[in-house]
Amino acid sequence: MVRFTSRNAKNQAGRLGPDVLTHGTHEARPAVQTSANSSLPAFDRRGVLLVGFMGAGKTSVGRALSCQLGWHFEDLDERVQAREGINIDQIFQRSGETGFRRAEHAALRELLSETGNWPRVVALGGGAFVQAQNAMLLAESKIPVIFLDASVEELFRRCQRDQVARPLLGQWEHFRRLYEERRAHYTTAHVRIDTSGKGIENIAAEIIARLGLSKFGLSKEVQ
Ligand code: S3P
Repeated sequence: MVRFTSRNAKNQAGRLGPDVLTHGTHEARPAVQTSANSSLPAFDRRGVLLVGFMGAGKTSVGRALSCQLGWHFEDLDERVQAREGINIDQIFQRSGETGFRRAEHAALRELLSETGNWPRVVALGGGAFVQAQNAMLLAESKIPVIFLDASVEELFRRCQRDQVARPLLGQWEHFRRLYEERRAHYTTAHVRIDTSGKGIENIAAEIIARLGLSKFGLSKEVQ
């Protein structure tokens, strides 16, 4: 039996919709200064952070967004796994959720303190933004936080469909309760994008438009 770990399963593209993603390797281009949406605060344009519940499409959209922007992509869960030398499932088994949150916070702190590899798009695990100490770090960074939203039914369907190992997935009632506990936190993000019925590439393009960024190779005027 092939057993996917979060890391290799998360490398699969196109899990939200019909768009097929191609992810060429590229050198990230420098962050561009553009006039941001005037209703948004002044951002640090080093990057974009994607948050949302399990199944929100943070990794898939993040990869597409990084390609469209010509920026690096990073999945925080992958950094956690690399630092710990074991996969997410094993971290939960060995150290429980408390141990995982500790590792996740350390990984996020490390990532934000790095000066290289920016600008980049970062996909956070579903519980990361909900932790007060992480939310504080992110607020200090001034990097825009995007909440990828969908109905809880849709999120559950997506999680059933893809093969990512998720220790906190559980059965429907547990999933719904956890979603309800967390939703208010996600809505504190700078921008909310409804992902229902949308293709991955279109969601990425919507984020670019909402943040007033420009696509790789295109100046603002010709988009
Ligand atoms: C978690 C979500 C997972 C991963 C871990 C905990 C959560 O990431 O970080 O299993 O608390 O919701 P995804 O949201 O990418 O599945």
